Amino acid sequence: MSDDIISYSSEKQGIVTKATLPMDQEPEIISLRPERLCDYIGQAEVLETLEIAIKAAKQRGEALDHVLFHGPPGLGKTTLAHIIANEMGTKLVVTSGPALEKGGDLIGMLTHLETGDVMFVDEIHRTPKAVEELLYPAMEDFSIDFIFDKGIHARSHRFQLKQFTLVGATTRVGLLSAPLRDRFGIFRSLDFYNTFDLEKIVRRSAALLNLPIDNDGAMELARRSRGTPRIVNRLLKRVRDYSQVRAHGRITKKTVEEALALEGVDDMGITPLDRRYLKTVINFYNGGPVGIEAVAATLQEETDTLVDVVEPFLLKTGLIIRTSTGRKASDSAYDHLGLSRKSS
Ligand code: ADE
Repeated sequence: MSDDIISYSSEKQGIVTKATLPMDQEPEIISLRPERLCDYIGQAEVLETLEIAIKAAKQRGEALDHVLFHGPPGLGKTTLAHIIANEMGTKLVVTSGPALEKGGDLIGMLTHLETGDVMFVDEIHRTPKAVEELLYPAMEDFSIDFIFDKGIHARSHRFQLKQFTLVGATTRVGLLSAPLRDRFGIFRSLDFYNTFDLEKIVRRSAALLNLPIDNDGAMELARRSRGTPRIVNRLLKRVRDYSQVRAHGRITKKTVEEALALEGVDDMGITPLDRRYLKTVINFYNGGPVGIEAVAATLQEETDTLVDVVEPFLLKTGLIIRTSTGRKASDSAYDHLGLSRKSS
């Protein structure tokens, strides 16, 4: 892993310890993450775009164009930001939209970047408007305008930045303003992984953790991980614990089935929260259509959690359908949960 990773918090401008890193940047997860493009599994088209752009930028001796990644959580947006910095041989600075509370937070970071360095802004759609507006000239002309004093005494000073690369990640590209979105030269959406690629990720992670796993075990884990590498790696650790304590350490289809039953993850990868969501739509709202706010209120969950974390996979698998009047449970949702449709 690159030693050149700096993470900033809004309260304390500076380097924070690994103990305060957000969940998806914890050291153990990072160690399962690929560090170079050649180790990355899946998302072939995204990888090809990046490989070409990185090679071209390096040949020209320039910074890589700004990159925007869009997609549900856990699909590799942060990992790719790390890889970009590793491939460019430059420093990575990590922050997030909500952490950038004031203009000064951003200015402090930008003025410390060297040529080619990568600034990763997670959840970029949650950047406050005033901070976002500072990003426009920073991205376009590599400059920022400081304003001193107020009113008739106000003076502005333009500060020249080094050529850097902004890598933004968002689960909600629709919430990004057009001026911000248009300043990214590379925009790629990450989609759920197929079982074949997830199985390869399971094998790679199992090898890194030194875990014996058979073909059917790897396949079963891949099938039940909602197309998401972060989930496959999290479940692999639960299965590791289970297999170690109950089955002499070897991961097989049987130990995966038993361990995931304890996690409440079914044979399609549907989790307890997914089931609560589906049952709410079906039992409380007669299968829908129902607005997301109503579902969130009934479940006592944040709307954002449902939209960002729960719904993408349920939509992908066709268990729910989004219509102009709200969410509906599909026939396959009833079948999957073994529920019968009430006649209306
Ligand atoms: N670990 C997590 N995501 C991965 C990926 N896309 N390729 C290889 N290993 C991974």
